[in-house]
Amino acid sequence: MKILVCFLFNLILNLQITTIDARPSKLILLSDIHIHELSPASAPISSMADFPPGAHMDIPTHQNSNKKLVIGLVAGSCLIGVILLPLTCLWICRRKKLYKSTKINTRRLDSLKGLPLSSFIGRTNTTFNGDKTSVTVMDYKLLQSATNNFHESEIIGQGGFGCVYKAQLNDNLLVAVKKLDNKSQNSVKEFQTEVDILSRIQHPNIITLSGYCIHEETKLLVYELMQNGSLESQLHGPSCGSNLTWHCRMKIALDIARGLEYLHERCKPSVIHRDLKSSNILLDSSFNAKLSDFGLAVMEGASSKNIKLSGTLGYVAPEYLLDGKLTDKSDVYAYGVVLFELLLGRRHVEKLTSSKCESIINWAMPQLMDRSKLPSVIDPVIRDTMDLKHLYQVAAVAVLCVQSEPSYRPLITDVLHSLVPLVPVELGGTLRVTENRVVV
Ligand SMILES: Nc1ncnc2c1ncn2[C@@H]1O[C@H](COP(=O)(O)OP(=O)(O)OP(=O)(O)O)[C@@H](O)[C@H]1O
Ligand SMILES: [Mg+2]
Repeated sequence: MKILVCFLFNLILNLQITTIDARPSKLILLSDIHIHELSPASAPISSMADFPPGAHMDIPTHQNSNKKLVIGLVAGSCLIGVILLPLTCLWICRRKKLYKSTKINTRRLDSLKGLPLSSFIGRTNTTFNGDKTSVTVMDYKLLQSATNNFHESEIIGQGGFGCVYKAQLNDNLLVAVKKLDNKSQNSVKEFQTEVDILSRIQHPNIITLSGYCIHEETKLLVYELMQNGSLESQLHGPSCGSNLTWHCRMKIALDIARGLEYLHERCKPSVIHRDLKSSNILLDSSFNAKLSDFGLAVMEGASSKNIKLSGTLGYVAPEYLLDGKLTDKSDVYAYGVVLFELLLGRRHVEKLTSSKCESIINWAMPQLMDRSKLPSVIDPVIRDTMDLKHLYQVAAVAVLCVQSEPSYRPLITDVLHSLVPLVPVELGGTLRVTENRVVV
């Protein structure tokens, strides 16, 4: 296609050059005639015999050249026609194919029993700028055998709506299958939102939804497998954060900021995740972090009447919890809580007594704002392993993100820019580290 366009472009260019070239010769001929006509030496012309020899010779040459030009133009037009015709046919064929595949995809989604996705898509009228291809509808039997009939030995995680299983599809492709047993209205809506949003967006820091399946009451979501599980299990599970060095934690913080920046600033309409927390941050085999669980996500412009107050206590911003005011700053607040977890290695809420919990923000805020106390409250696994200036900077970002007044919180773009210089080049930032020294 490209070659044909180039050829056409060259042809037009050549034709233009020919036309430009023809002009001076035409002008010369006309001026020649003019000179002959105005020549004082020449007497008034009464008959062809009176023409000076030169003038007599010039007029037929001019006509010949005009003829040549006309022939050239006609030939050129024919050539363009010959080239344009197949090109137009090709273009029409491609448009037809595209239209067909869009129709098939819409039909696929529509065929989901009890899930009127097309009406949902129509209602939100979304046109994301992400160019992800459609998500596949997967065969239940295939997933059933790939998870060893959803055997408990294959469980890799458990959430509010069901279990997550490891599964091996053909070609040694490993995936994670989330099985939603819950039949509540909420779980159906979350499933629908997750499929709808994840099928349209694509970003290195957002989980890939490979497919989904509906079988009777069971709904399955199939994701890329994240070998290192969730940030929550890394920080608070058996390894107690020992796999996560200071730089690795900074890289995770930067990855999450990049994922959120994509949702807030680049998706049109923008998306608020609404359930950002360490269990929804998944880590691949190289500890690249990706945002997951888009069941509660909300797109800009969605009617607030349909949005129920949702989220996870300890991560929910106060203005959303108290007044239902939802903005991108709600995600920034939750992001701040995750930063606290990364720095301190502690859970977002801690049980004081059997009936009393305390948020990490409440007890840690004074320590994070006091430079002299800060190093002593840092996760023992990473304590004294970082440049103190960097630690102060990240603590300041974390404190800003969890301000109770949303307008005092930074935009996620600002957070992202402040973290880039703290992450080593080889991990996706701009920090140059040589052996044990940090090069500023
Ligand atoms: N794609 C995946 N790859 C690897 N592990 C995953 C994947 N998706 C989920 N998990 C694991 O399964 C766990 C449960 O996930 P799930 O999203 O169902 O619940 P949750 O996030 O822990 O809690 P909630 O129900 O409140 O969202 C996760 O915390 C994670 O450890
Ligand atoms: Mg989750």
